[in-house]
Amino acid sequence: PSGVGIIAIDIYFPAQYVDQLDLEKFDGVDEGKYTIGLGQKRMGIATDREDIHALCLTVVNNLMDKAGIAWKDIGRLEVGTETIIDKSKSIKTVLLQLWDKYDPNGERDMEGIDTINACYGGTSALFNAVNWIESSAWDGRYALVVMGDIAIYGPGNGRPTSGAGAVAMIIGPDAPFALERGTRSTYAENAYDFYKPELHREYPYIDGHLSVSCYLKALDRCYSLFCSKSEKRVSDVQRHSLKSMDYMLFHCPYVKLVQKSLARLGYLDFTRADSSNEHPDLESFRGLKTEESYGNRDLDKVIGSIFKSDYKCKTESSTLVSSHVGNMYTASLYACLCSLILHQKSSDLAGKRLGMFSYGSGLVASMFALRATENVAAIEKMAKILSHVPRRLETRIQRSAEFFHEALDYRDKTAHQGSFIPKASLEELSPGTWYLVSVDEKHRRKYERR
Ligand code: ACO
Repeated sequence: PSGVGIIAIDIYFPAQYVDQLDLEKFDGVDEGKYTIGLGQKRMGIATDREDIHALCLTVVNNLMDKAGIAWKDIGRLEVGTETIIDKSKSIKTVLLQLWDKYDPNGERDMEGIDTINACYGGTSALFNAVNWIESSAWDGRYALVVMGDIAIYGPGNGRPTSGAGAVAMIIGPDAPFALERGTRSTYAENAYDFYKPELHREYPYIDGHLSVSCYLKALDRCYSLFCSKSEKRVSDVQRHSLKSMDYMLFHCPYVKLVQKSLARLGYLDFTRADSSNEHPDLESFRGLKTEESYGNRDLDKVIGSIFKSDYKCKTESSTLVSSHVGNMYTASLYACLCSLILHQKSSDLAGKRLGMFSYGSGLVASMFALRATENVAAIEKMAKILSHVPRRLETRIQRSAEFFHEALDYRDKTAHQGSFIPKASLEELSPGTWYLVSVDEKHRRKYERR
């Protein structure tokens, strides 16, 4: 099969949020730190009715309701997450209750399980699905990939970069967004920038500034490899640079890091070129050692301004959903794809090349490209599935900063508790949302759909 990639995509995020301005005031930080410094506007908050199973059940059910594909036509189900409820039982198996409900007499001949490495699991799940369709094991059916997380931090600097959400995608041949062949590039390393050694807690151990430099280092390495593969293998790319990408999407822990990342690609193009008169302001940075370039405010300022217009055309529209929802870990990059499909005209996306950068702490990162179809109607069809998003963002319930902190404390105490009945009212959930009904004394979880 050719053109294997994304055929349909949908996103789900919780129905309540906290405003980052309120959080700045409540946390007593300087005005602008979260809203300008991190570039975030609002942040989604999951209630105790929503664990990772519920988020994934909801987004898969919603996508399947709209995509016009029969449940029996899904031959592989992959999950990417780092929100772990059970050390053995996969989320994939929990999702099978959807097949019990909608395809009760169907076969359960369905490969795929959960894939874990911080925010990277979703990308690994996507690659697994694409590999399956391109392999001798493929039986002609679609793959369904779901990625999602409840991204929360203990008290401290990481907390304003929390969030929650899930994305589901149907993968198949002749897709409107096909994965480009031969250019996928990966960088992996043993790092302790962000990890979760406490198995009964949802919070990570985090060295925030280290995680940012690990992210940028991985971006450098993936980009360099991606450029050389593109130059060798892609017919319309002779000398790869930002210009070879119509759009560039990044894993988005917070929007400011994405702005910096796009500017960094421009800077990397400059360092790869032997000589360039294009950016005289950058010449004084030419001899800068790579390690000195991370967190270098002078450099950030210059490249931020030089590549601002590239950011606006190639990346900004992909960050709009994340700026209102926050980090979604494994789903974050794919939430950016949803945002792009929603906010760009389908005719502007048709025939274009999209760069995708996925990063998971610990660390594993990849850069790959999607090729958009020339068929505008096929992209419009995808945008239609996502058309609920702007209204959902607007109609969420606003919560105070105090509520947000208390909700996280409460979640920390109860997320792994047996004999648990959630207290949040069902009224707070949008119709179609799957929710946790109860956890029994043996930790078996029961769900229903509102
Ligand atoms: N007005 C405008 N900007 C401000 C203000 C203000 N009043 N105050 C601070 N800022 C700016 C800072 O200058 C800084 O900008 P810079 O990055 O361009 O230098 C930015 O806001 C952040 O300020 P810091 O002091 O660096 O923030 P802090 O030390 O609180 O930590 C961090 C930020 C590291 C991102 C923290 O929120 C964190 O640990 N987050 C979780 C980890 C994370 O998201 N890592 C990213 C990759 S890995 C992953 O996805 C989990």
